[in-house]
Amino acid sequence: MRFVGRGTWPLNGATFNFTSFVRASPRHNGGDERTSHVQVNPPKAGERTSIVLRTLSMSNEQPLKLHLGCGTNKLPGWVNIDSVARCQPDLVLDLTQPLPYEDQSVDAILAEDLLEHFDKYVRYVVFAQWARVLKIGGTITLQVPNFKKILFRYFKFGFDNFVDFIFGENMWRSTVYIGHFGNHKWGYSEESLKRFVASFGIETMLLEHKGLNLRLVGEKKRHVIDEDIDRIEIYSHANATGIGAPRLAVGLVRERIRDFQDQFHV
Ligand SMILES: C[S@@+](CC[C@H](N)C(=O)[O-])C[C@H]1O[C@@H](n2cnc3c(N)ncnc32)[C@H](O)[C@@H]1O
Repeated sequence: MRFVGRGTWPLNGATFNFTSFVRASPRHNGGDERTSHVQVNPPKAGERTSIVLRTLSMSNEQPLKLHLGCGTNKLPGWVNIDSVARCQPDLVLDLTQPLPYEDQSVDAILAEDLLEHFDKYVRYVVFAQWARVLKIGGTITLQVPNFKKILFRYFKFGFDNFVDFIFGENMWRSTVYIGHFGNHKWGYSEESLKRFVASFGIETMLLEHKGLNLRLVGEKKRHVIDEDIDRIEIYSHANATGIGAPRLAVGLVRERIRDFQDQFHV
């Protein structure tokens, strides 16, 4: 079976087509889940080429659920996605690249201990993809470290006991070394997490404390288009104290990230 879809490059907004060839896979029980090989149409001159696509699971009958940054915690019934091949996810993908799914085609997204691995700018480009593929009424579950709580513990228990929670632990729950993908690059409070998802049309239905983490369950209420996301402004302390504007629009940030990735071939 062939499944043809369209996606958007997160960095320059250009669309691309992809074709996935679906075949029954013995790895999945019940015959409902299938494994597909995905081909992305060759990029035109100037477009990025570094997207890494291998396999993904999909089903025609069942809801499509993406487990992003799965690490070694692979969940049945979910398409488990991670950048680190040694974790053996269903799809090896650096999530700073586009998700190979059509707009509003995904029923649920789960991202536990992942969002904090993207810096304060890159997270907008990455999350725009998650919001793009989610259906209206679809749910998103996020777990991130509770930055305020960790800081309190840091001052109470000291450097050795709490510094790992701030920067991240590269062998968390695993013997696989996950390199720079394991480092934390941003922190969240309850308010800032809610505000962040709201700018992508996601309403927080539940926000709870789970140990040192915040766990948010959100529902997509409206589809926010790229142009609206590009207009979101991000506060920049560096610019506030020096040259340039104290606030940067996501559209400009998107361009700068693309230039950086092109230059360093990431
Ligand atoms: C702290 S682990 C969490 C793993 C799993 N969700 C869990 O709770 O056990 C963070 C995971 O995010 C993945 N990750 C970090 N940056 C990523 C990126 N740019 N693209 C895809 N995966 C990424 C890492 O490879 C790692 O497996």
